[in-house]
Amino acid sequence: MKASDVLEEVFAQALSSKIFVNREVLRPDYIPDQLPHREEQIAKLGSILAPALRGYRPSNVFIYGLTGTGKTAVTKFVLKKLKSKALELGTSIDVCYVNTRQDDTTYRVIFRLAECVGLKLPFTGISTAEAYRRFMKALDSRATLMIVVLDEIDFLVKKHGDELLYRLTRANEELSLSKISVIGITNDLKFVDNLDPRVRSSLGEVELVFPPYNASQLEDILNDRARLAFRPGVVRDGVISLCAALAAREHGDARRALDLLRVAGEIAEREGADYVGVEHVYKARTEIEHDRVVEVVSSLPLHGKLVLLAIYNIVRSRGKATTGEVYAHYKSLCTKLNIESVTQRRVSDIISELDMMGIVNARVVSRGRYGKTRIITLAVSEESLLTALKEDPYVEVLLDRSR
Ligand SMILES: Nc1ncnc2c1ncn2[C@@H]1O[C@H](COP(=O)(O)OP(=O)(O)OP(=O)(O)O)[C@@H](O)[C@H]1O
Ligand SMILES: [Mg+2]
Repeated sequence: MKASDVLEEVFAQALSSKIFVNREVLRPDYIPDQLPHREEQIAKLGSILAPALRGYRPSNVFIYGLTGTGKTAVTKFVLKKLKSKALELGTSIDVCYVNTRQDDTTYRVIFRLAECVGLKLPFTGISTAEAYRRFMKALDSRATLMIVVLDEIDFLVKKHGDELLYRLTRANEELSLSKISVIGITNDLKFVDNLDPRVRSSLGEVELVFPPYNASQLEDILNDRARLAFRPGVVRDGVISLCAALAAREHGDARRALDLLRVAGEIAEREGADYVGVEHVYKARTEIEHDRVVEVVSSLPLHGKLVLLAIYNIVRSRGKATTGEVYAHYKSLCTKLNIESVTQRRVSDIISELDMMGIVNARVVSRGRYGKTRIITLAVSEESLLTALKEDPYVEVLLDRSR
């Protein structure tokens, strides 16, 4: 088929959807006009930033809360409104949003910041210090107020340290004509606790906490979006409340709730149904979980996968595994592959990491005078695990042999 015919078909399908009017509004990066149950955070962030409209530097803000609690959505929403208000009043505000998971080096963050003040830095060839100097010069010559959002800031700091964060929160001491305010956002509560106190105090001039949503709040959020996304009447009773309840059970994650609803709709459409029912939500849950496992497992380093394969093999024959058994089996796998194994200590750490990622459950039990061990079981379906493990050519070889 010609490319244009393919597209024609895609368009026709989209137009004839029995389920969706506009599925885009269910996507995670869509910023809705209404953010129910975040009035308090919107008002608070708005009042912190409002001095910018009169040319004063707002306090730096540190925002944290679990994933899917609306931190990014609220921040973007407030900044959009602030920006348009500033335009109306003729005040100069430069807003710069950087996600440091995507722009994950200090240099790339500075590159983005420079872009926001109209300076194009070279991609390579100058040092980070030089890049920072040029950015600061460009910023100062603009005589402006710059509001910098560093979203998912834990990624940058964990990888490259807190120097840039520290410098930005102190940058006003070096600026004469311009001012800068920093909004840092993270969902890693451990990171918050471990942040260097001097950085925390300069970033967190004001701190804003986003609590998780409960099931009924998630329902309100979903109802708003469902009205825009679906054709009238296709969403059956109980669908929204089920999505809300499932997401609330995890930890009140609105992204999760929206994903469930969107995927349920897509499954209904694939099946040719003219409604979205609770059965589609259950299928959506399985599909999302499967995708998550595949994504997490595929991105593990080889030894992580081998430890996981060892756990899988033992659990399949005995139902559960101990750390010692996993180590012994893992070593035999390394021997088969003719590669060097890592230490038992490291294997033990890998098991903890797998536990934290929700791939396995590892429970510490006491064995009396033999000390402690961990009882390890799988926390995800064998099928998802196998799909993911098979993607790795090394592991695939081992799987075939054990068949
Ligand atoms: N109060 C709300 N009303 C409507 N939609 C919301 C609300 N809160 C969150 N959402 C939606 O839920 C999704 C996740 O929200 P958001 O991206 O803001 O979470 P987050 O707190 O930044 O999470 P993370 O820490 O993982 O980045 C987005 O699609 C967002 O539009
Ligand atoms: Mg976010």
